Amino acid sequence: DKIKPAPTRPVGPDYRSESQKPAATVSVEVGIETVTVLPQTPQLIALLSIIRDKATDRGDFIFYSNRIIRLLVEEGLNHLPTTEHTVTTPVGRPYDGLSFQGKICGVSIMRAGEAMEQGLRDCCRSVRIGKILIQRDEETAQPKLFYDKLPEDIADRWVLLLDPMFATGGSAIMAVEVLISRGVPEERILFLNLIASPEGIRNFAAKFPKLRVVTAFVDQGLDEKNYIIPGLGDFGDRYYTR
Ligand code: URA
Repeated sequence: DKIKPAPTRPVGPDYRSESQKPAATVSVEVGIETVTVLPQTPQLIALLSIIRDKATDRGDFIFYSNRIIRLLVEEGLNHLPTTEHTVTTPVGRPYDGLSFQGKICGVSIMRAGEAMEQGLRDCCRSVRIGKILIQRDEETAQPKLFYDKLPEDIADRWVLLLDPMFATGGSAIMAVEVLISRGVPEERILFLNLIASPEGIRNFAAKFPKLRVVTAFVDQGLDEKNYIIPGLGDFGDRYYTR
């Protein structure tokens, strides 16, 4: 895969003229119907600028990553089914609204995905959360499933799969295969991540055409060590160690 040029454009609300908006690098467009990229707002770009900065300390990295995670969870929830639901307000009037339908659970890909669990809990009180540990097998260099702990009724739930950095997609593909083997249909899985690579997204969409991905940003590509570029380095190291 060739490294894509960084798309740079004025960022800001529509009512401002182009000359009033500062320019910034925005997400690469992948043009895949199942992939939702968060709106490239000044707020999102400013939050990403903080967590991408190598000079950002751990406290700020955690705080600002958590804000982006919250945006991802809120957007992810928009893709779950709802039904019409009318309520009566305290002034005795009806309001024709919606209610969420269907049970959900989170599944984090350890260790970095665990950083996204609290953001999900903040939006969905007492949500069930499972975990999957996948690591590279030293002998084969392929991803290998080391551990999983999943709700026993996972086949009846919508699954929000959590991993902040979507690089080659190797771990995510294996995690989805585990979920499918436990009876979760592909179309009931939503994969939430902060930064994705175009090649990871394309591999994944070719393999799981019905699975939805919600990401904050698609970056330019991968380097020779499969780090996302420009990326933010090792998410787990920056979130969990100093
Ligand atoms: N995982 C990370 O933490 N960072 C990357 O760039 C790729 C995978």
